[in-house]
Amino acid sequence: MGEYLQAATKKYLLRYGGDAFPNVFTHAKGSKIRDTSGREIIDFTSGQMCATIGHNHPEIIKAINQAGERAYHMFSGMIPDVVAKLAQELAQNWMPNNLNRSLFLSTGSESTEAALRLAKIYTGGYEVIALGGSWHGVTGAAASVSYASDRHGYGPTVPGTFILPEPNSYRPYIEAGSEEAEADAALDLGLKMFDMQSRGAPAAIIVEPVISAGGVLVPPKSFFKRLRKEADKRGMLLIFDEAQTAFGRIGARTAAEYFDATPDILCASKTLGGGLPLAATITNDEIEQTAHERGFTFYTSHVSDPLPATVGLAVLETLQREQLLQAAQTKGTFLRELLIGLQQKYDVIGDVRGLGMLMGVELVKDRTSKQPNHELGALTTKRCFELGLSMNIRRRAERGSVWRIAPPLTISENELEQGVSIMDQAIGESLNALARP
Ligand SMILES: Cc1ncc(COP(=O)(O)O)c(C=O)c1O
Repeated sequence: MGEYLQAATKKYLLRYGGDAFPNVFTHAKGSKIRDTSGREIIDFTSGQMCATIGHNHPEIIKAINQAGERAYHMFSGMIPDVVAKLAQELAQNWMPNNLNRSLFLSTGSESTEAALRLAKIYTGGYEVIALGGSWHGVTGAAASVSYASDRHGYGPTVPGTFILPEPNSYRPYIEAGSEEAEADAALDLGLKMFDMQSRGAPAAIIVEPVISAGGVLVPPKSFFKRLRKEADKRGMLLIFDEAQTAFGRIGARTAAEYFDATPDILCASKTLGGGLPLAATITNDEIEQTAHERGFTFYTSHVSDPLPATVGLAVLETLQREQLLQAAQTKGTFLRELLIGLQQKYDVIGDVRGLGMLMGVELVKDRTSKQPNHELGALTTKRCFELGLSMNIRRRAERGSVWRIAPPLTISENELEQGVSIMDQAIGESLNALARP
């Protein structure tokens, strides 16, 4: 059965990139994935960083059944009751400052597109600045502002997209003595370049508060204060893409709250749907009103669909009832200590960083040279999988080899220990294999 389906995979699927595992998979439950042979694998990535409350949580199953009894889908001009409830729940209990107007979509890429369209129609400008190492999606404008994705081979990007050097305390672009000073220096230089290139039509600065695909880089708090000031100075909106950071992953309701920052627009996706396609673009009354008056549209086939909204409500209720924000903090500390233990054992672990249950582990040739260790990253990730652990590694020539570790917040400490012990064995064996002539 497994082999037959593996052959079908090879013959009938269009390959879409990334490192595909050879097996075919059947089940995802809690923190475990099962393949066609019945083998269970610990999931250290929550699927595609979505399943924060665990795969197929009973509350998600219940929500899907409820939607089955009531409605999955409606005409986009009909607002389902659950969509109204979800918008109210986000505004009253989850969003920072005055972000209280939500548009519900399906994917993170769409939430970026909607945010950029809002910023453009509101400011009348079109120039957008994003950070190096960013990932905001694969659709037109979102791909244009994504610098960690593959940009080669698809023709021109949207005119008016600019890059800022991202804050990176492990590999600073400009050495300046402290991570705050280094983030400032890189920002100063980047903005100087932007001001020179600008055609005088600035619209937005878009950032991931934790630059995830770019290597799980955590900027200092001061960086966001500076961004706010610099955006205001130029009449630009500040957009936070919180696809990965909102709703518990870093132990807070949002990264905006964690960093005490004040974005004008917040994009949420992965962690809101808990594994189902749900995204939101959220802004304040004033921006919503102005955009509406200027004719803002963002219709998709699945805008305001009741099925994902029912699931989103279940995800938020579960996060609260099971106290998963606190769990992200305590389990995050536990995980960090385990990873630091590994770092003390292996000189090839250059850096351990992250927030809550979103951690990055950077592999290097050695800690002095900090040279990226792509061979070890590939080999160890493969060995982890053979030993029963699913890991995601970001390998880009320009920025090193970084494991991105984001298990479900419902994972047990025992499973975290098992996972890190597999990493330990896999690193040891891979180092031996690479040392052989
Ligand atoms: C920060 C961030 N924004 C946007 C996206 C795009 O989301 P989607 O893949 O759902 O379109 C991703 C996906 O990895 C992401 O990590």
